[in-house]
Amino acid sequence: MDRKKQRDRTILCNDENEYWENKGAIVPPLYQNSLFAFDGWDGIDKAFDNLSESFLYSRLHNPTSRIAEKKIAAIAGAEDAKLTASGMGAISAAIMHFVNHGDHIVTIKDIYAPANTFINEFLKEKCNVDCTFVDGSTVETFAEAIQENTRLIYLESPASITMSIQDIKAIAALAKSKGINTVIDNTWATPLFQKCIPMGIDIEVHSVSKYLCGHSDVVAGVMIGSKKDLGEILLKEHALLGPKMAPFESWLLLRSLRTLPLRMKAHQDGGSQVAHFLEAHPMVKSVNWPGLKSFSQYELAAKQMSGYGSLMSFELNTNDLAKIKSFVDGLQLFHLGVSWGGHESLVYAPVISYAKELPPERFDAMGIVAGLIRISVGLEDPKDLIEDLDAALAMIGE
Ligand SMILES: Cc1ncc(COP(=O)(O)O)c(C=O)c1O
Repeated sequence: MDRKKQRDRTILCNDENEYWENKGAIVPPLYQNSLFAFDGWDGIDKAFDNLSESFLYSRLHNPTSRIAEKKIAAIAGAEDAKLTASGMGAISAAIMHFVNHGDHIVTIKDIYAPANTFINEFLKEKCNVDCTFVDGSTVETFAEAIQENTRLIYLESPASITMSIQDIKAIAALAKSKGINTVIDNTWATPLFQKCIPMGIDIEVHSVSKYLCGHSDVVAGVMIGSKKDLGEILLKEHALLGPKMAPFESWLLLRSLRTLPLRMKAHQDGGSQVAHFLEAHPMVKSVNWPGLKSFSQYELAAKQMSGYGSLMSFELNTNDLAKIKSFVDGLQLFHLGVSWGGHESLVYAPVISYAKELPPERFDAMGIVAGLIRISVGLEDPKDLIEDLDAALAMIGE
């Protein structure tokens, strides 16, 4: 059957015998090797002539990684994908690909904090790159921020603290009309629920550490886009800065991809039940989950996503730090920790780190209050998670 006609679930759990000799192994082998040897001069000579595809050295390509890259590209509707050692490896490589010394970037005020620091401090100090942070809820906020030297619009939709959404198709069209490139962090929705490349985005990046791997045992990233852009990145940012994902991590990723559609369905279902419970609770002021009808950008979310992740934030009815601490500490099933998108439920209060990671004015601009709590709903029974939240909320409501 033509691979191009297969649906996402089939692509993810059915392995083509593309890079290994099939000895009946149902799981592709782990090529845990750094280099590839050749029969003779002509073979290695040819490999150097086709670096963008050759198996020569695992900093460039590895067969196990390549299987996962092809699957991810296929479900994203893109030509190619390149795995990286972390989500930040993908973000920094994609941004550096499009931006040169003295250029300008437009992005949203509530992007992931290390991406914010990379753009606003690292690139500013080392490459004199300037940046404008916009509200992002309308296309006009981007149009107004564009300058003569704007080379990149960087999006994160939904954003991972506030879940704010940008109109991907309209912003990609605006950028194209001005000759500006676009990169989006699509970690929250995954390429299953949000197809950014067909919507006109140049490069989509992910923290693979989240849903794509989903078992909280891997730190990794991926860039998805055209063969041209990723081919250039391979020979520059990838080859020279070296953020390549290791073979074993790629093998674990292949394991995870087989169940991605099933896991995302369960995350969405659990997320929906928890969000509706929180929305109705008297100790909760508001819930940021794009699947709720009360979410301010619900229509746009439904227009550009076919499903929802289970990361959400909500504002407690109090900004009293002692009460917020006792709520977080009172949870038993939700583990307190950073990251998200794994099998286990997590709780986090952005106030703990954002004030340390970002300058105060950037932190305030994101509109984060002390009582904002972020939870990642895992794969446990949602009824148990709701009981856990209910008990912890009762402690602070007394
Ligand atoms: C939205 C988002 N993007 C990117 C990253 C960075 O990914 P990694 O931790 O794999 O470098 C994270 C990590 O938490 C994230 O939440």
